[in-house]
Amino acid sequence: MSKQQTIGIFTSGGDSPGMNACIRAVVRTAIFHGLRVFGIHRGYEGMIEGEITEMHAGSVSDIIHRGGTMLKTARSKRFLTPEGRKQAADNLRANGIDAVVGIGGDGTVAGARVFFAEHGIPFVVVPGTIDNDLWGTDYTIGYDTALNTAIEAIDKIRDTASSHNRLFFVEVMGRDAGYIALHAGIAGGAEAVLIPETHTDLEAVIQTLEQGWQRQKTSSIVVVAEGDEAGGAFKVAEAVKGRLPQYDTRVTVLGHIQRGGSPTCADRVQASELGHAAVKALMAGKHSILIGKMKGELVEIPFEKAVKEHNPIPAHLLDMVKVLSI
Ligand code: F6P
Repeated sequence: MSKQQTIGIFTSGGDSPGMNACIRAVVRTAIFHGLRVFGIHRGYEGMIEGEITEMHAGSVSDIIHRGGTMLKTARSKRFLTPEGRKQAADNLRANGIDAVVGIGGDGTVAGARVFFAEHGIPFVVVPGTIDNDLWGTDYTIGYDTALNTAIEAIDKIRDTASSHNRLFFVEVMGRDAGYIALHAGIAGGAEAVLIPETHTDLEAVIQTLEQGWQRQKTSSIVVVAEGDEAGGAFKVAEAVKGRLPQYDTRVTVLGHIQRGGSPTCADRVQASELGHAAVKALMAGKHSILIGKMKGELVEIPFEKAVKEHNPIPAHLLDMVKVLSI
């Protein structure tokens, strides 16, 4: 691959805090090394629509601390079609774009793979999603901020639960991954954590809560991942409350507040490091890789591995939840 002269940058899938810090790093690294850089707005959808504008060092001023993505994002059904991808490729070429950095999740990687196979335009992807469900990096950009948003909310729920002797079911995001639920549940001191990666035994949950009551626990919190097999917090609460009449039961769904907010220091640093590394990888002629960090080291993960593998849920943490919730 020749040295890339012009690159594109876009954000795709669910937005996450830290995406702006990553955009900033990509733009400034490219310009520092004499490349031109174009922002592609609204993800793959904007690539198809040709919503592409040149960026300069000043384009990314005053965004490092802002949640969301200045390039906006979208989920694109049209990019799933060869016609859509052809239109996108024509737009990239019309702007002289040699290679692209995408910031997003598994859908971004999957799209980049098929796009390169069809059109030969090299992509590198930086893992940006609150779900932390991409193999090839210990933490995706936005995960740390989403966790801290979730535990701030759970701490507030704890105040009112203990004031009213209530049992709360708190639902967190993760689409089909339980990382937010597990870590926010532990940090929030939950009595139980329900995640899609493991079988949910409602009888065991009821027993844990019943035993807590016997030990004079007058309020409890159960954190439920939205993708849990039991069907989410409302379904679980419905199944449990009849069996625990001593509790006044309530449900809170944290929803999209987990997607916003100013990124934490950890997310800003990782976003900057991965964005910088992504441009350097393209300049070295690399492509079709996810740039991540594993055990503190920068890694380059081939797309086919990133979409096939999954980060294992640490079983010892699930066991620990049972122990610490007595
Ligand atoms: O992938 C990130 C995510 O926030 C998931 O956790 C969640 O299920 C999904 O996006 C929600 O998608 P949307 O923002 O399109 O409603």
